[in-house]
Amino acid sequence: MTSNGTQGTHGAILADTVPEGSDGTIVELRNAGKSYGNIRALHGVDLKVHPGKVTCVLGDNGAGKSTLIKIISGLHQHTEGEFLVDGAPVRFSTPREALDKGIATVYQDLAVVPLMPVWRNFFLGSEMTKGPWPLRRLDIERMKKTADEELRNMGIVLDDLEQPIGTLSGGQRQCVAIARAVYFGARVLILDEPTAALGVKQSGVVLKYIAAARDRGLGVIFITHNPHHAYMVGDHFSVLRLGTMELNASRDEVSLEELTNHMAGGSELAALKHELSQVRGVDVEELPEAGDLKAPVAMAKDDAP
Ligand SMILES: Nc1ncnc2c1ncn2[C@@H]1O[C@H](COP(=O)(O)OP(=O)(O)OP(=O)(O)O)[C@@H](O)[C@H]1O
Ligand SMILES: [Mg+2]
Repeated sequence: MTSNGTQGTHGAILADTVPEGSDGTIVELRNAGKSYGNIRALHGVDLKVHPGKVTCVLGDNGAGKSTLIKIISGLHQHTEGEFLVDGAPVRFSTPREALDKGIATVYQDLAVVPLMPVWRNFFLGSEMTKGPWPLRRLDIERMKKTADEELRNMGIVLDDLEQPIGTLSGGQRQCVAIARAVYFGARVLILDEPTAALGVKQSGVVLKYIAAARDRGLGVIFITHNPHHAYMVGDHFSVLRLGTMELNASRDEVSLEELTNHMAGGSELAALKHELSQVRGVDVEELPEAGDLKAPVAMAKDDAP
């Protein structure tokens, strides 16, 4: 397969190459959909990913978020509409093919080996070697040095790269995974709910590195349930509901409050309130009215350490 990018020293596609003849859109879905047998999990989805921009995909459980990213990351194939990379229609059969186009995915249950040191996990599956065959062996010094430099370049400072990655916090592990994708030449970075299991402070740290990846020119697809997290870094917002797009808006077209309302689903909240009023011991007066869902104050950007 030919790639549009320049080959880097480690065989990856460099992030700053924009293919000729396109408006810079790296990934595009047009009226795309996916059925699993009789189940239509996704339909009518339009999405664009640009370099240096964060596209947020929001939606409740079962809305189709994971299905959407599985199409883009090469795990599943779309069954309706079009999927284009650099303006050309594609149909990936494996995640490797997506990676070859510079599309990297960081899953929530990160594929790391907990007992191996941080630097070893950074290079897992793409180890640096030295010496001629058959005497070729791992270039440990170069891997440690490079991992250290790359993490620092992203502003991630760890005390000791020898510590097992399992001893890092969930947020730190997400950050290492982001730095790794950047180093190996990703042009598009897909993050599936990277802040879902994290507290406020750690979420702030991950959001900071999402912004760092964006500033390095990557197109980021950020999947989340949390409109506040999305609004802190997002340039574009797509809300999925029951497998289709109910909101597709750029930052200047939607406020945080509107986004929160879309996610909360005003009428569903009213129904839930009615249901809960039948349950003893639940004070429904404490729940907000469907119409006046006020967005709580979002985390300040400099909350992140
Ligand atoms: N492999 C599959 N086979 C059949 N149905 C599936 C499959 N994967 C997902 N679905 C269905 O497709 C719909 C969308 O699921 P999906 O996992 O994309 O939602 P999601 O937005 O990622 O939800 P969550 O927030 O819970 O992760 C659901 O109704 C789900 O049951
Ligand atoms: Mg999911």
